[in-house]
Amino acid sequence: MRIYDDLELKQVQIDSINSRLEGISNQSNLEFRYVDIGDKVSFYELGRGENKYPKIQSIERKNIFLHECNFFSKCGGCISQHLSYERQFQYKTENYTKRFKEQFAIELELIPAEKKFTYRNRMDFAVFPEKIGLRQMSNFRNIIDIDECKIQSNWANSELKILRTFLNENFPEISYNRKTETGFLKYITLRDDLESKDSMSIFTFTKNFLNTELEEKLISEIVKYSTAQNIIFCYSRKQSEVSCDGESKLIKGRLHYNENFLGKNFIVPFNSFSQPNLNGFLPIIKFIESIILENKASTLIDLFCGNGFFSLLFGEYFEKVYGFDLVESSIEIASQNFQINFPDKDFSFEKKDLLSVDLDFSSMNKNSILILDPPRNGIGKKIIDTILQSDFENILYVSCNPKSQLDDLEHLKNKYKIHKGLLTDPFPQTTHLESVVFLKRI
Ligand SMILES: C[S@@+](CC[C@H](N)C(=O)[O-])C[C@H]1O[C@@H](n2cnc3c(N)ncnc32)[C@H](O)[C@@H]1O
Repeated sequence: MRIYDDLELKQVQIDSINSRLEGISNQSNLEFRYVDIGDKVSFYELGRGENKYPKIQSIERKNIFLHECNFFSKCGGCISQHLSYERQFQYKTENYTKRFKEQFAIELELIPAEKKFTYRNRMDFAVFPEKIGLRQMSNFRNIIDIDECKIQSNWANSELKILRTFLNENFPEISYNRKTETGFLKYITLRDDLESKDSMSIFTFTKNFLNTELEEKLISEIVKYSTAQNIIFCYSRKQSEVSCDGESKLIKGRLHYNENFLGKNFIVPFNSFSQPNLNGFLPIIKFIESIILENKASTLIDLFCGNGFFSLLFGEYFEKVYGFDLVESSIEIASQNFQINFPDKDFSFEKKDLLSVDLDFSSMNKNSILILDPPRNGIGKKIIDTILQSDFENILYVSCNPKSQLDDLEHLKNKYKIHKGLLTDPFPQTTHLESVVFLKRI
């Protein structure tokens, strides 16, 4: 059946690429993925109003469509393998550099990525009946079955292949069917240090899998096949689409893995955030270190501290360190690891919901540097109000979403001036970027 019979087949030529790495045409206000300048796209216009989108039927390409990965343009992981890295970086940064210049009169330093593939230390694969893979772009329920991901590590690719074969051959009934609510396994998460020294496979099941005969059988078999040094099972509500969440059971090794970086050992609990590409994050670290050295302070306040990454890296420059984060396992590890590395220093790591509780940093903000490294949505109103009412002198704001960072900075700009900023790219082939700005009280 031809379902678009009553719609007009349109054709446009792509004139430019936007900061989300999508093609734009002067003849249309829609955005087109996986195309390049000069391509001719034939499409039907679907949806209404702001939700209009192009259903692409064919692309007459100006240049050969080159890309590294067989799943590119099907799986939603990468969006720009068909563009040279230099062009990707230019397109995804130019809008932000312009906005920082216009809104804050600041010229951001730009540092492109050195490593363009095999850089991620964590990938989460959704498990559906007969499919283990990544979601299609803008289609949460459609999983692209994949056996290799070019941006994850070599260990993770080999483990993914082993687990796929093992599960398909021995436990075909184990994948969770979201429609019929049968089966159990929802996610497989692979984390490693990229140097094959430590690795972790985390399996997220529905709760009713816990303590079943099938679970017992899987445990006895999986340890023979998986090459991970640490294996963890998690059990969460059927409806939950969060990986590594809920009650956990240690199957092999430890509940954390270790990342060695810049001469320090970082302990990463299985369910905690860690920077997905440590080497790609180096420009941010060097920037922060230079600011700390130029603006000597006695106290570091590390908000959204995670496992204590910045506290541990820069602890040596401060007399006192305070860290706050929502995740309990992160706070425990941050404390333990800080104590091991700096046994004589005054420190405190505390579990706090920084987005919703009232905050009072008045006892600690004298002679301090505040580091903010929030999740994608930004620092939230509570922190903005706290900062505006405080007498913090120096703030470093790190962000994986310069868009929400720009919005937050707008709220702070009457009291704080941006002195320096940097944009770098730990996430080649995707639209994501990492930024850091240094703010000083006016
Ligand atoms: C981008 S990560 C930064 C972590 C850390 N600075 C690092 O470099 O590894 C953001 C952190 O915010 C934490 N987080 C998310 N929501 C939070 C909240 N409402 N209150 C406190 N921390 C939160 C997460 O647990 C995560 O550790």
